[in-house]
Amino acid sequence: MSSLADSGAPHFRALLPHPAPDVDLATAYAYPAVLNRPWLRANMIASADGGAWGPSGRSRDLSSAADRTAMGILRGLCDVVLAGAGTARIEGYRPVRPREVWGRLREGRTATPPVAVVTRTLDLNPALLAEAPEDARTIVLTTESAPAARRRAAARSSEVVLAGDDSVRPEKAMAALAERGLFRVLTEGGPHLLAEFTSAGLLDELCLTVSPHLTGPGPSRIVAGNVPSHAQNLELGHLLESESSLFLRYTKRD
Ligand SMILES: NC(=O)c1ccc[n+]([C@@H]2O[C@H](COP(=O)([O-])OP(=O)(O)OC[C@H]3O[C@@H](n4cnc5c(N)ncnc54)[C@H](OP(=O)(O)O)[C@@H]3O)[C@@H](O)[C@H]2O)c1
Repeated sequence: MSSLADSGAPHFRALLPHPAPDVDLATAYAYPAVLNRPWLRANMIASADGGAWGPSGRSRDLSSAADRTAMGILRGLCDVVLAGAGTARIEGYRPVRPREVWGRLREGRTATPPVAVVTRTLDLNPALLAEAPEDARTIVLTTESAPAARRRAAARSSEVVLAGDDSVRPEKAMAALAERGLFRVLTEGGPHLLAEFTSAGLLDELCLTVSPHLTGPGPSRIVAGNVPSHAQNLELGHLLESESSLFLRYTKRD
């Protein structure tokens, strides 16, 4: 089994809660050992001035080797990657690829987590549906009012789940994932999707990368859209640093 240490991957140090020169990311980001309900973790990146994307209109402008390493581990740890269709289109989502550094992280589970994509239009990259492995087929979370022909086409290679009338309801989406045994949910946004799930009170954890860039006032924050306010208190689990990026792990405080 290869490890992050011998893969030439970026080096992470812990600043909080206890300074440490080396961090095992899989341990630092472990989900609760026992889960009797779905756990929703968001992994988002923001520039130092709070922007959710860079000059090209994509969040990858803000990313780095360190951020991609953390993202890879978070994907390896989860049961399903949940994304809005906007992010899937703009960031060119495809099925998750297995990574050597996962080692035994996915023992007893499918080799990769499926992607669950939330959409009204079903305007999706065909590869996201067609290229997924049989045991981790893409899950399309959509609505009763979504175009029937597109629903039928998507159902040929993916699992189509109706989780609302005109809009996917976050509670129904989470319940549909839980019914499939997918409890460790990792959402990668985008900002509209994250706002909706947070507003529904479903977000348990926010893994936030603060990227050493200024983007100016153009981009949105990591939450966007017209949803009811969802002010919540968070507790800091850890603060890591790698290559001038900061990695904060927050959990919801009751
Ligand atoms: N900073 C970060 O961490 C981060 C993370 C992800 C993305 N981004 C950036 O954010 C931008 C995309 O932002 P975004 O907020 O538009 O993306 P998004 O939330 O991923 O996608 C919005 C789309 O998701 C679907 N959707 C969301 N809620 C739905 C609901 N309740 N029911 C049915 N469908 C629903 C709709 O898709 P349809 O249009 O198909 O109906 C909607 O147009 C990109 O620039 C991306 O690079 C940043």
